Amino acid sequence: MHKKLILTGASGKLGSLLRASLRELCKELILSDLVPPAEPCTGNERFVACDLADHAAVGELIRGADMVLHFGGVAHEQPFETLLPANIVGSFNLYDNALKHGVPRIVLASSNHATGFYRVDEVVHPGDSVRPDSLYGTTKAYAETLGRFYHDRHGIETIALRIGSCFPVPKSLRCLVSWLSPDDLRQLVRCAVLAQSPGFAVVYGVSDNQQVCWKEDDAARIGYQPKDSAEDYRAELLERFADQIGDPRLLLQGGSIVSRDYRDDTTLAPHPPVPWGKTG
Ligand code: NAI
Repeated sequence: MHKKLILTGASGKLGSLLRASLRELCKELILSDLVPPAEPCTGNERFVACDLADHAAVGELIRGADMVLHFGGVAHEQPFETLLPANIVGSFNLYDNALKHGVPRIVLASSNHATGFYRVDEVVHPGDSVRPDSLYGTTKAYAETLGRFYHDRHGIETIALRIGSCFPVPKSLRCLVSWLSPDDLRQLVRCAVLAQSPGFAVVYGVSDNQQVCWKEDDAARIGYQPKDSAEDYRAELLERFADQIGDPRLLLQGGSIVSRDYRDDTTLAPHPPVPWGKTG
């Protein structure tokens, strides 16, 4: 039982999914975000508003914590000036303050998009070079690099979760590889919180999908054993997206994000007007 856990991005999609399971692992769960969560605080939760770009505020937020579960930030492709405060400055502020205030572990919501420029017929291992598929992906690679450095130099532990696509059910062909069910997300984060001496670890945040692009990560080392599988939805997905099967534009692991261009606003809408915009 931890004394105090901090969840950044607590008002976001994944943060909201994680609250109940995290409440059980600590005496006090601090929910933090720019905006309060839609569901009011309950039990041992308390909300603290904090902009990740504000160094002093991040220091105040995490002082005395046992661990930070870092899910805050911009979660899709955006121009540099939008990504910079939360994803770049915010990640530095987090690690710099973790060192200053003696916070020993960060669980980092990284992304499969840190390696999304590999082709779908390639298998990626955590030791392979990062190959981001977007400017967003580069910010995830930067946060992981900070984690590596602060572990090597200062001993702060990081478990970088390269999350795939977390939805209630798989919603694209790409999800046959990348789907992470909400229950498996909760188990993954629980394992990251409870892991004994993980050091610096990289774990792909995916369910037990039959089709794999990512191997030999540190899942076993933290005890993560996913239970769900996108395979159960294969027939339905193949029928629904029959027009996309074999589409050469889907050859990169990152999927549709590569069609979004940070220099062109019209491609950044949730469903950009491109042929493969239907994928996750
Ligand atoms: P989300 O957009 O729903 O939540 C992100 C939260 O961060 C929002 O509530 C937002 O208000 C907050 N935030 C943004 N800028 C901030 C700032 N400057 N200071 C403080 N808070 C700020 O995103 P979601 O889907 O919950 O993702 C959570 C994390 O997981 C993100 O880091 C994302 O990159 C990562 N991820 C998510 C995946 C998914 O399937 N949802 C897949 C891969 C990675």
